Parts: sequence; structure tokens; C-alpha cells
Amino acid sequence: MEKKKRILTGDRPTGQLHLGHYLGSLANRVKLQDTYENFIIIADVQALTTHFDRPENLSRDVMNVALDNLSVGLDPEKSVLFIQSLVPEIAELTIFYSMFVTVNSLRHNPTVKTEVQQYGYKDIMYGFLGYPVSQAADITFCKADLVPVGEDQLPHIELTRKIVRRFNELYKPVLTEPEALLSSVPRLVGLDGNAKMGKSLGNGIYLADTPAAVKQKAFSAVTDPGRIKATDKGNPSICTVYSYHTAFNAAEAQDIAVRCKAGGIGCVACKGQLVNCLEGLLAPIRERRNYYESRKETVSELLMQGTMKAREAAKETMREVREAMSIAYYGD
Ligand code: TRP
Repeated sequence: MEKKKRILTGDRPTGQLHLGHYLGSLANRVKLQDTYENFIIIADVQALTTHFDRPENLSRDVMNVALDNLSVGLDPEKSVLFIQSLVPEIAELTIFYSMFVTVNSLRHNPTVKTEVQQYGYKDIMYGFLGYPVSQAADITFCKADLVPVGEDQLPHIELTRKIVRRFNELYKPVLTEPEALLSSVPRLVGLDGNAKMGKSLGNGIYLADTPAAVKQKAFSAVTDPGRIKATDKGNPSICTVYSYHTAFNAAEAQDIAVRCKAGGIGCVACKGQLVNCLEGLLAPIRERRNYYESRKETVSELLMQGTMKAREAAKETMREVREAMSIAYYGD
């Protein structure tokens, strides 16, 4: 049998995951676990690059991200879910790579630039500037073939490919050049109409939200501001609620658009339909979450086992890396 290709992807544990994450990556991750060997990293070291001053939240957030992943159907039998900081080989690789990655290539990384602006950094921390190098180590320690990501991560994958080519050329060809598997779905807008449903923007429906919270949030979502009465003719193309229908309610979206444009369905009824559809999606997710939430020790064990598997792969790669770099002074 042909060897399964390996995937690596993951999240920073900096808060709960929401519908935007579900649509953009989690759903796909679950689908891919049957065809590929899935490695899912909980990137706590990367979270520290922006949250080093509040590390006390990390253990809670690591658990939350694990629960989010398990609740959407990630199967720990099929996917290796692991914690970045417990794989020290990633830090070692990061150091080796950092010898030949230039500061300028990091300063010009468009995603780093955007984040520097978002966070309002005047001076940039060394670790933050270098996180794409660490991400290259996340991807290469297990020789991932594919990295499912959103568009904002493409510069990091490009850097990873460059690092691999450079390493293989400088020393010996031991690393695998990964490819990005770009998420094809458009980004989910926030409840407030903001272009992005964001963890830190307070405009999201979270996978862990209760039915009451989902309802309250859906009903607070902004719609076509030109529509006052239920019989006014609406413009679905500028309506947040309609964009959620297209994302999650393909079966009814078309009909809703027709009725909205004709003034044949009011926003309240339309939001009601959205809540019903979201509940269809979220109820089983919530159920799995409750299952794991009441078994947190099992989750911790899963994480430990996943981390051990990741370390096995990492140790093997480090042996080859040291040998390639002629620093395997005393054999393995
Ligand atoms: N940078 C990613 C994010 O912010 C998280 C991440 C860390 C990641 N390491 C990774 C994604 C490796 C893909 C591959 O969402």
C-alpha cells in the first residue's frame, strides 16, 4: 500500500475557536483525516510571541483548542493532536534554520507586517519577528507534505519551502518541501459586519456557545441597513445574515435571497431560519464537547500520546538533520 501523505496544520491557543475557524479550517481538517496522516499542532510557543505577558491563560487555552478540535469530530485515532512546547526538537530546528534566514525576509513578510500594525508594535520582539521560522520547524520536523491553511499563512509556507530548499542544498537533502493546501472558502464576516470574524474582535459565534447565546448573537447580527420594515425590499449581498446562510445553509440560501429581494421575508424570520440551521450544525459539536469536557483527563492523555508520537517523528528528523549538518559528533 502506498504510504499516506502527511499533513500538518494547527492553531494558536489564544482563545476559543468560532464558526469562521470551522468553515475555514476545522471542517476540512476532519474531512482530510481519512485520506492523510494528520498532525495537528497546538502552537502554544507561537501564542507566547504575542501573549508572553499573560502565560497563565495558556493551559486553559490549550485545553480549549483541544476541545474545539475534538468537538468538531477530529478523531484521536486518526489524527495526532500535540502541544508545540512539549516537542523541544521544534525549538532546536528553529535555531538551526535561523542561521540562514535573513532579518529582512522576515521584516518584509506581509503577514508579520499586518500583525505588527494590528498589535501596534513600535519595536518588534526577536521571537515575534522569528515566528515564521518556528512555524517552518513545526511543518518540517514531521516532514509534512501538505499544510492546509488560509491565505494569510501563505507567506509562511513560502518561507518554509525556501528554508527546506536551502537546508537541503547547504547540507544534505533530508527535509521535505511542503505544499500549501489553500482553503477555498471565502472568509466569514463578523456579526458586526466586519470583514473578519476574529478571535479578538468579539464578533463571533463560538463553537462552545450555548443555544441561547447562538440565538442572541444571530439576532444581533447586522443586516441590510436600508431595510426598516419586513416588507421593504432587501439587498442580501450586503447582509451579514445572508452571508451566513450561503456559508452554512446552502439548501435554503437561494430561496431566502429571492424572498428578501422581494420583501417577502423579514429579518426576524430570516434570522430564525439561520438559528435553526446553525443549531443543526452546532448541536452535535456541543454534544461531543460535553463528552470530552466531562473527561478532561482523557483529553490530557490524548494530548500526551499525540505529543509522544510527534516527538518520535521529531527525534528521527533531528538525527538526520544533525548527521546532514555534520554535528552528529557521537553518532546518535
Ligand atoms: N500561524 C497559524 C495561525 O495563526 C498557527 C500555526 C502554527 C500553524 N504553526 C503552524 C498553521 C503550522 C499551519 C502550520 O493560525
